[in-house]
Amino acid sequence: MASGSHREASASVRNVVKRIWDGRERRIILADVSFELERGELVVVRGPSGSGKTTLLAVVGAMLSPSSGEVLLDGEPTSRLREAHRAEVRRRKVGFVFQDIQLVDGLTSLDNILLPRVPDGVRPEDTKRAKELLERFGLLDVSDVPTKGLSGGERQRVALARALINDPPLLVLDEPTAHLDDARALSIAKQLAEVAMDGRAVLVATHDPRLARSSGVTRILELVAGKLDPMLL
Ligand SMILES: Nc1ncnc2c1ncn2[C@@H]1O[C@H](COP(=O)(O)OP(=O)(O)OP(=O)(O)O)[C@@H](O)[C@H]1O
Ligand SMILES: [Mg+2]
Repeated sequence: MASGSHREASASVRNVVKRIWDGRERRIILADVSFELERGELVVVRGPSGSGKTTLLAVVGAMLSPSSGEVLLDGEPTSRLREAHRAEVRRRKVGFVFQDIQLVDGLTSLDNILLPRVPDGVRPEDTKRAKELLERFGLLDVSDVPTKGLSGGERQRVALARALINDPPLLVLDEPTAHLDDARALSIAKQLAEVAMDGRAVLVATHDPRLARSSGVTRILELVAGKLDPMLL
């Protein structure tokens, strides 16, 4: 379980720089970004298109290595690990909800949620936890339905449940409310606040003022051209 007993932050981002070669020139996408994410926080990353939000999520979630600097997950340094080891740390420490959701649409909701358990072998307690998540997110009725038949809001909630099956200390979401109506967007905001209060950090990149202004958000990070301007709420 994600307990509050760890003294380490869920994620520590220290002097992260990300440079890329775009085929013509070397560009700095993230310029010396530092912040900490504590358990219980729901933090929004806001900023114009192209400011580096998605890149920042990928670096914080150990999908991408920084060019320099370090990302610690639950106190564990990740940036200089080989990819196979980093992938293993990532699987234990981070839940992702990608912008395009990425469900396996031939599988049922339940089986999609259990996918991250497959490398270790799905145990009966995993299925029990998956069913608790289905119930928590109002998905019990679609548990055995292939996800290709689900609505946008349902698909979003299946992706959220899947990201939580390994009980990660850090949950990362990219534009989770982009295609949802007001009621669904508000409901996702409320659920993310509850998920943070379970004792993990939740980091969300969004343009959506409905999410950025929702009551459960504990902090907003403003990203402008790869630089961070932290504003405490
Ligand atoms: N692999 C890559 N190769 C070339 N350029 C990249 C790559 N990844 C990101 N970029 C560039 O880095 C900048 C930041 O991209 P990123 O997707 O992180 O921005 P964003 O804030 O998420 O934007 P949006 O709000 O549109 O999703 C953009 O200028 C993008 O074109
Ligand atoms: Mg983006």
